[in-house]
Amino acid sequence: MKGVQTMEVIHALKTRRSIRKFVDGAVTPEQVNLMLDCAMLAPSAGNQQPWEFVVIDDVSLVRSIPTVLGFARAAAEGSCVIVVCGNKALMKAPLFWQQDCSAATQNILLAAHSLGLGSLWCGVYPNEQRAAVTAEWLKLPEDIVPMSLIVIGAPGEEKEQPDRFIAERIHKNTW
Ligand SMILES: Cc1cc2nc3c(=O)[nH]c(=O)nc-3n(C[C@H](O)[C@H](O)[C@H](O)COP(=O)(O)O)c2cc1C
Repeated sequence: MKGVQTMEVIHALKTRRSIRKFVDGAVTPEQVNLMLDCAMLAPSAGNQQPWEFVVIDDVSLVRSIPTVLGFARAAAEGSCVIVVCGNKALMKAPLFWQQDCSAATQNILLAAHSLGLGSLWCGVYPNEQRAAVTAEWLKLPEDIVPMSLIVIGAPGEEKEQPDRFIAERIHKNTW
């Protein structure tokens, strides 16, 4: 996409954090499209691309989400929400759909960060209660399973990236 300011990938990886406080600020349709473009470039098992995305960009609707979906408290300050879903009808390798949708979710988080936006991954599936209320609220068809709910907005907090490198977790050639 032309004219988009982005950061280098390793820098984005090393500085992304979960943002739970947001300030007012629009997430533009172009930014949403870029994040979804990145999501759909994620690797998937057998290249099955089993994902579907529900974009909630009506800010008053976004901010009402915690009254229905208690686990998504951060949406009370967010500007946009993307729900990443798996479509059972698209699953050629059904065992792996969660990994596929997780890769798409991570791409959205990194793209958001690269655009200067804050984001938070709220896990939905396989928490059955979260998945059921999310599916009911979004009126999802039978074949569509909500996997993650991502809150996006102008960041209202700054976080340092801690050093999480643990050499003992690395096992060379064999355990
Ligand atoms: C599968 C998954 C589910 C998560 N669910 C939630 C959630 O429901 N609520 C929340 O506040 N954070 C949630 N998070 C964010 C994690 O708490 C966060 O990634 C972790 O604390 C590490 O912090 P960081 O993202 O800033 O590096 C989830 C993350 C993952 C990967």
